Amino acid sequence: MAASAFPQAIIARKRDGHVLTPDEIAAFIHGVTHGEWADYQAAALLMAIFLRGMTADETSCLTDAMMRSGAIADLAGVPGIKVDKHSTGGVGDKVSLVLAPLVAACGVPVPMISGRGLGHTGGTLDKLESIPGFQVGLSLEAYAAQIRRIGVSMIGQTAEIAPADRKLYALRDVTATVESIPLICASIMSKKLAEGINALVLNVTFGRGAFMKEKARARELATAMVAIGHAMGKPTRALLTAMDQPLGRAVGNAVEVIESIEALKGRGPADLMGVTFALGGQMLLLGQAASSLSEARARLENAIADGSALAKFRDLVTAQGGDPAVIDDSTRLPRARFTREVGAGNAGYVVDVDPMAIAQAALLLGAGRANVSAVVDPAVGLTDLVKVGERVPCGGRLCTIHANDEPLLAAALPQIRAAFAIGERPVAPAILIDELIE
Ligand code: URA
Repeated sequence: MAASAFPQAIIARKRDGHVLTPDEIAAFIHGVTHGEWADYQAAALLMAIFLRGMTADETSCLTDAMMRSGAIADLAGVPGIKVDKHSTGGVGDKVSLVLAPLVAACGVPVPMISGRGLGHTGGTLDKLESIPGFQVGLSLEAYAAQIRRIGVSMIGQTAEIAPADRKLYALRDVTATVESIPLICASIMSKKLAEGINALVLNVTFGRGAFMKEKARARELATAMVAIGHAMGKPTRALLTAMDQPLGRAVGNAVEVIESIEALKGRGPADLMGVTFALGGQMLLLGQAASSLSEARARLENAIADGSALAKFRDLVTAQGGDPAVIDDSTRLPRARFTREVGAGNAGYVVDVDPMAIAQAALLLGAGRANVSAVVDPAVGLTDLVKVGERVPCGGRLCTIHANDEPLLAAALPQIRAAFAIGERPVAPAILIDELIE
């Protein structure tokens, strides 16, 4: 090993504010992937990167090395421009469940590999797994074959995809190095680029319910990820969207599947549809299925109106072993033993629905994971959530709680009540789709 490739030499160079060479970055990722770097050395370099930052070229190199640390799905046999969407997440964010079949129904193949939610509410996989029988653990070969056959696949992170990220993320989580733009960027983009995509649309959320609380930081992250996508030859666009109240009216797993199915039937809440159409529009443009946003929007709306998006969801559920009858009969999805309506203490306008308070209450009910080994309860959560700007009478419903355990319901109730603020004057909800970064 050349002296400059020793971990301590690489760590020292970043500690002292130098730009790492592609060889140094490759040595780091190779060492982490093959267990040649000790965890304390990797953690020291992560902290040096956190403090010193990385240039755009270094971040591209890191992303590339992390992507190549494992398998890269081969979708060359799938005709068309394959476009995926990634969201930095939010409370009640079930956009993927609506968007993937919708965009696929418009002729753009959607390869989607998602993560599980840690903390708060479940992730896309947890939501899908609340459909009886639905399998998210497909091999990369089965994933590719399914996209070729029906144009869409929604699976979980396989062990072969970006193994360096799995190790590094676990270290970042326990060494206070998660909130670094180059590290987040390389982590997200290495996994997305390993999916075999040709183009990518990002939903970068900001606000109280988002990973990035401040819009300026969300913009910085979005700009960095768009730049990496372009540097790697994959056209990438990002939308900045506000996450100051839960998205839609349901938070949980099965309850979000029901809301997504309703959305595919043309009965989705306005905010969920707004984000879905905005992201879908960009996906159709990148997938060359439309030449303008207005044409894209018309195609998306038509795919909902003519039932083809719902039919695509049915194909997806069936292909992955799920019970497609849930689409026509939501009582086949897991249902909680207890439901309780929460009423407003006074009449007025909803001025706030705190997404973090709602998420924490959903977590308490069992809808999310407090640690990696925790088991998600698919049935519990909240529905009928009022939205900012709506008027409620005294005693009018603010939401319905779905619980499987009465003491937990009792414990969540005060938190849920505290999430809502009712005022005398109407307020306009925050602008949801804030900015497009190309
Ligand atoms: N999500 C990821 O996959 N990686 C990060 O670093 C942060 C959020």
